[in-house]
Amino acid sequence: MEQSLQQVPLRRELELMLTSPSTTTSTTTSTTMDHHSSSAGGQPPVSQDRIQRLIHSSLEAKQHAYCPYSKFRVGAALLTHDDRVFTGCNVENACYNLGMCAERNTISHAVSEGYRSFKAIAIASDLNDQFISPCGGCRQFMREFGSSWEVYLSKPDGSYVKMDVSELLPVSFGPEDLSMKKVFNIPNEY
Ligand code: THU
Repeated sequence: MEQSLQQVPLRRELELMLTSPSTTTSTTTSTTMDHHSSSAGGQPPVSQDRIQRLIHSSLEAKQHAYCPYSKFRVGAALLTHDDRVFTGCNVENACYNLGMCAERNTISHAVSEGYRSFKAIAIASDLNDQFISPCGGCRQFMREFGSSWEVYLSKPDGSYVKMDVSELLPVSFGPEDLSMKKVFNIPNEY
């Protein structure tokens, strides 16, 4: 049975894109493998220059990663609707389960300064041969603020793949689901 790209798991999908003839590769600039010709959600696409700068900011943010336990540095840079950039890194803790991912730190920082509308997030790690793939929790965290904004998964050399939140988290659960019709409504005094 023929499988569409949408049904292929992310790693395999990235492999397919890397080997596809439409892939553009350059040693000095970024490798771009867009899923879309224009930005999702009807927004104007983020300019190439801004993408490069966002990825650069995520690579810089990675330098502040506090990861004495995993030794796995991650940086993120978030572009707001009005083109402000917030950055963040992963911050671990001796109580391991309290560690926080770079993406969630970054989004929380922006939200705590009044932002809820985002155009794009760039993510950086030290993985040499792979584009960083955000964890499931971070995908859900992004999805809270919409399904159709851009996510740039990068490598240390600045190359990247562009995806959007709905591709990273298809058939997702979001804030709208909470107000959908239910068979049982719990009364306030429950
Ligand atoms: N990490 C992130 O910051 N973002 C992700 O999407 C994947 C994982 C961090 C969490 C932890 O500090 C380290 O990477 C290893 O899991």
